[in-house]
Amino acid sequence: MRTLALVLGGVSAGGLVALLALGGTRSQAQGTPQPSDSNFVAVISDTGSLRGPRQPIFFRHDLHAGELKLQCQYCHYSVAVSTEPGIPSVQTCMGCHLVIGGNTASHKAEIKKVRDSWNTKKPIEWVRVHYLARHAHFPHQRHIKVLGPNACTTCHGDVTRMPQVFKVNNINNMGFCITCHVERKVSRDCTVCHY
Ligand code: HEC
Ligand code: HEC
Ligand code: HEC
Ligand code: HEC
Ligand code: HEC
Repeated sequence: MRTLALVLGGVSAGGLVALLALGGTRSQAQGTPQPSDSNFVAVISDTGSLRGPRQPIFFRHDLHAGELKLQCQYCHYSVAVSTEPGIPSVQTCMGCHLVIGGNTASHKAEIKKVRDSWNTKKPIEWVRVHYLARHAHFPHQRHIKVLGPNACTTCHGDVTRMPQVFKVNNINNMGFCITCHVERKVSRDCTVCHY
């Protein structure tokens, strides 16, 4: 399984153990007691109170990028090379979820939606959280090159702790961009961002 091997390369020792333990539970008979996942992010039953737009599938960054320590670029594959960071295809998810079906009732239900999307070839329609007006342009790669691969927090906050992504900074306020550009002595020419 090439995809899985690739994933495991980016997972820390702790995450790896958790991952293998979870993957392993799949081979047990249905209904047998599952190992305790006290090592894991808390179960959230009241998703209605979470900040950020509700997504078609309750995909948790605090679990995938936090607990499992998957690198952002494993999924946002083009963030360092393109204006667009990239949103992973269902195939990326299936590298794991072909095997990992979930340990709790809610995880099982949500992962089933991922598998359904794969089986019916209907892409998941994620709701966009950060969105600039058409007249403004933001090139991710230029920023990552200078600010580094871990700069995501500067603009997006600590996503590794978010069960559901929400906007931490008002990126739709031009002042947010200009403040840093002034500090960093980057051009403030209107046509740099508006074209
Ligand atoms: C396992 C795949 C995966 C990993 C790893 C991952 N993401 Fe995501 N990310 C997604 C998916 C799927 C979405 C769309 C659904 C959503 O918003 O939760 C998304 C959405 C986002 C968004 C909101 C995009 C928007 O619409 O504005 C941000 C910001 C983000 N991710 C940042 C990060 C950062 C930072 C990391 C690393 C700390 C990371 N992601 C790791 C899969 C991943
Ligand atoms: C490296 C392997 C891996 C990848 C890649 C991965 N997941 Fe997961 N995912 C897991 C594990 C492990 C769990 C925890 C299962 C459990 O304990 O129930 C999980 C749990 C989930 C859950 C239930 C918990 C939650 O997050 O709300 C959903 C839904 C989910 N994954 C969706 C996705 C989607 C969508 C993608 C692709 C964008 C994806 N996963 C990619 C390993 C992975
Ligand atoms: C300097 C600020 C800044 C940094 C640093 C930054 N982003 Fe963004 N991000 C933005 C802005 C602004 C948008 C909205 C862009 C648009 O609408 O064209 C965005 C949008 C996104 C989206 C949504 C894209 C989509 O197609 O739905 C994702 C995912 C994302 N960023 C991930 C990341 C990741 C991962 C990192 C770190 C590797 C990162 N960003 C670093 C400002 C930033
Ligand atoms: C945390 C600091 C920071 C923030 C916030 C930030 N930028 Fe930047 N931006 C930079 C740096 C540093 C560069 C210079 C990159 C380089 O030298 O290639 C840059 C470069 C750019 C460029 C390319 C400039 C050129 O000369 O071609 C554009 C376009 C841009 N930013 C747009 C934006 C927009 C739009 C926002 C707000 C949504 C924003 N930036 C927010 C730091 C930031
Ligand atoms: C560093 C990038 C950047 C530069 C430089 C920049 N803008 Fe903007 N501008 C933005 C962003 C981002 C927005 C918000 C877009 C949105 O609503 O999503 C914006 C919004 C605007 C708006 C819409 C009204 C508003 O306040 O939201 C106007 C008008 C505008 N800019 C004019 C200018 C002019 C004139 C200049 C040159 C003096 C300039 N901008 C330079 C990034 C920039």
